Amino acid sequence: MELNAQNQPGGKVLVAYFSWSGNARVLAGQIAEEASNQGFGADLFEIKTATAYPDAYNECIEAAKQEQNSNARPALSGGANLAANMAQYGTVVLCYPNWWGTLPMGVFTFLEAYDFAGKTIYPLVTHGGSRFGRSLDDIKKLCPRAVIGEGLSVSAYGTNPKDAAKVTAPNRDVTAWLKKVLP
Ligand SMILES: Cc1cc2nc3c(=O)[nH]c(=O)nc-3n(C[C@H](O)[C@H](O)[C@H](O)COP(=O)(O)O)c2cc1C
Repeated sequence: MELNAQNQPGGKVLVAYFSWSGNARVLAGQIAEEASNQGFGADLFEIKTATAYPDAYNECIEAAKQEQNSNARPALSGGANLAANMAQYGTVVLCYPNWWGTLPMGVFTFLEAYDFAGKTIYPLVTHGGSRFGRSLDDIKKLCPRAVIGEGLSVSAYGTNPKDAAKVTAPNRDVTAWLKKVLP
C-alpha cells in the first residue's frame, strides 16, 4: 500500500457531483459509501446551478449548448459550508456527465470557485459514447495547481429523461477503480 500526504486512509475525501438524469448521482453515492467503507471520511456534495435545467431532454440539450457557446459560468446554489471546509479535503472525486464534449458549465463554475491547489482530483465521467471528451484538459486548465489522478469513464448510452438513471450501483468498474486510486 502506497501512502502520500494527500491521500491516505482516514483522510477526508470530497465526492462532488453534477447530475441531470441521475447517472453521476448514483455513482457518486456509491463512491461515498465505498470510500467510507475503506476508512475515509467521505462527504457528498451536489454541484447545483441556481437555475435548474429544463426537465425536457431536448430543451436541456439546447440550454446546455447555449451555455457552452457563450462560455457561461452559471451561478451555483449552496456551497457556503463547503467553502469553509474545503481545506480539509486532500482528495476530490469529481463526478459529472459529458455535456457537449466536456464538463457541464456549472462544473466550470465549481472548479473556478474553490482553490484546488495541492489536492488530487479523480474525474469520473458518465457519457453517451464520447467518454471524457475534452473534459480532462478542461479540468487541468481550470485547476492548474491540482494533481489530476487516474479517471474513469462509465457508459450510460441512450436518452436519459431527467432523474432516470441508467447505471446501477454498485458498478463493478467503479469499485475496482476506487480500490486502485484510494490506497
Ligand atoms: C445536455 C446534454 C449534453 C450531452 N452531450 C453529450 C456528449 O457530447 N457526448 C456524450 O457522449 N454524451 C452526451 N450526453 C449524454 C450524457 O453524457 C449521459 O447521458 C450521462 O450519463 C448523463 O449523466 P447524468 O445522468 O448524471 O446527468 C449529453 C446529455 C445531455 C443532457
